[in-house]
Amino acid sequence: MYYPDELVEEVRMKNDIVDVISSYVKLQKKGSSYFGLCPFHNEKSPSFSVSRDKQMYYCFGCGVGGNVFTFLMEYENYSFLEALKYLADRAGVDLPKEEYSKEAKQRADMKAVLLEINKAAARYFYVQLKSAQGAHALTYLKDRRLGDEMIKAFGLGYSNKYSNDLYKYLKSKGYTDEYILKAGLISVDEKQGVYDKFWNRVMFPIMDVNNRVIGFGGRVMGDAKPKYLNSPETMIFDKSRNLYGLNRARTSRKSYFLLCEGYMDVISLHQAGFTNAVASLGTALTPGHASLIKRYVQEVYLTYDSDEAGTKAALRAVPILKEAGIAARIIRMEPYKDPDEFIQNEGADAFRERIKKARNGFMFTLEVLERDYEMGSPEGKTEFMREAARRLMEFEEEIERNNYIEAVAAVYHVGKDDLRKLVSKMAIKAGLAKSVARPRSVKTWEREKEDGILKSQKILLTWLTSGEDIFRQVCGIVTPGDFQEGLYREVAELLYEQYEKGALNPAAIISHFTDENEHREVAGLFHTRIKELSGIKEQEKALKETVIRVKTHSIDDMARKLEPTDIEGLQRLMEAKRRLLRPGELHISIN
Ligand code: UTP
Ligand code: MN
Repeated sequence: MYYPDELVEEVRMKNDIVDVISSYVKLQKKGSSYFGLCPFHNEKSPSFSVSRDKQMYYCFGCGVGGNVFTFLMEYENYSFLEALKYLADRAGVDLPKEEYSKEAKQRADMKAVLLEINKAAARYFYVQLKSAQGAHALTYLKDRRLGDEMIKAFGLGYSNKYSNDLYKYLKSKGYTDEYILKAGLISVDEKQGVYDKFWNRVMFPIMDVNNRVIGFGGRVMGDAKPKYLNSPETMIFDKSRNLYGLNRARTSRKSYFLLCEGYMDVISLHQAGFTNAVASLGTALTPGHASLIKRYVQEVYLTYDSDEAGTKAALRAVPILKEAGIAARIIRMEPYKDPDEFIQNEGADAFRERIKKARNGFMFTLEVLERDYEMGSPEGKTEFMREAARRLMEFEEEIERNNYIEAVAAVYHVGKDDLRKLVSKMAIKAGLAKSVARPRSVKTWEREKEDGILKSQKILLTWLTSGEDIFRQVCGIVTPGDFQEGLYREVAELLYEQYEKGALNPAAIISHFTDENEHREVAGLFHTRIKELSGIKEQEKALKETVIRVKTHSIDDMARKLEPTDIEGLQRLMEAKRRLLRPGELHISIN
């Protein structure tokens, strides 16, 4: 659905950012801005700022920022349209009825109905659990030492013994067979007809980050198989993009998540006060999970089962998390099977101790690897150290690699210089390097250079929006055409247009981009972290350098694109570059 910019802008202007954010974060006025504890990272002193003048927020601690739409998209995990609707509603702005394509409309409607059906089913299961028929299920949960508070918080329920009770109930509420089937709650069989998918099971509703029920896990109360039956994947239930307990864990304000394997583990941990526990939905951890986690924390403590399968799963999860930029640590549950059993037997304090003793993901990988070698014999241990060196070689960053070399040397009682030499030797053997450092391929080098110039363009956009005075001085030198084609240039064009009309307004530009990824990227463009430069002189120097970098790159780029015969054009560009670089030529002052 497309809404015109003017309407989006009206909604934005009618929702003062300070008011909106105040209902989530306690803000205090300091100078011309408001400050509070950042809801996107864990901190003790406020570095999250909201500006009424600019209608933007920015965290000096973690670098996030944007306008009122961005905030809701990040905090509530709304799509742009959801944020728009929410704010329009809040300000009493009528949005025209959506002119979906017929198909898009059908899909959206269908999703909404499936969510409704799941919600109705969850309510039904909950009522059953509390009714006479569900007494034994409630007893089962109580025997597993779950309190009423957790049963309610996680919306646990019971699916009774009749084969089509839920189906009849949902029909009575007016839902069609087609939709109930699509929601994964019934099966249709030629012989038996329609019957409920879940019978006589304790029900665990699975919610997305916005507390909407998207599926169920149902556990037998005895030893029957399968122990847990789960909803099939549906239009609203994607197992690789949701985590059990995330709807609660995301507000725990801890800097890490506890990632476990089971529903019961999550609930048990929450009950014991570890409200940052989440679990994957009976599947292995995927990159989709990792990037979902990355939105909330940079660190994960894996509390997988202590059996062989759990260990293997943890080993597989570590690199997936690392790839997404999340540091992994491993908590061991021995001698118990899983966090639930551990807590039941040892209690919360003992678990806290285990968290403190959590092992680093890489070191854990080596520990498991050790089991394959005869560590008592010189040959065995040497072989093992070679394998360790091979893995150490994978750390591209020298500092990180050296830190790990030292850690491994200490744990396995070998000289750290010897180990370092071994790592270098491995690298040469693998043809990766002359020395320990891998030569970066030309491609990587080019990409880094490209990243560098984009970074400069980003920084310049942040500068341009920091005041009309700076804009006036810079726009004589740099034009939108000097920015990278695509998003950057489009943003620059919009900014220059605003400047010409006499009103710089970056907050309005951000909401011009309604695609989630673009929106986030544009919000980031105006919030590049400009290193805290102490003096005005230093700031001026940095700004000048940025202007020169962006402009010379653009000139070089244009020169490359000239017809080889266009000598005159080339001369003109070279002259422009010479002038730009002439000492004392560029005057920019910040005050
Ligand atoms: P576990 O077998 O470790 O169970 O499965 P658990 O969580 O400890 O359960 P309790 O304590 O016996 O009740 C871990 C997770 O794997 C999925 C479920 O998501 C479960 O929470 N699973 C397990 C299934 O989907 N189906 C199964 O049959 C078993
Ligand atoms: Mn268990």
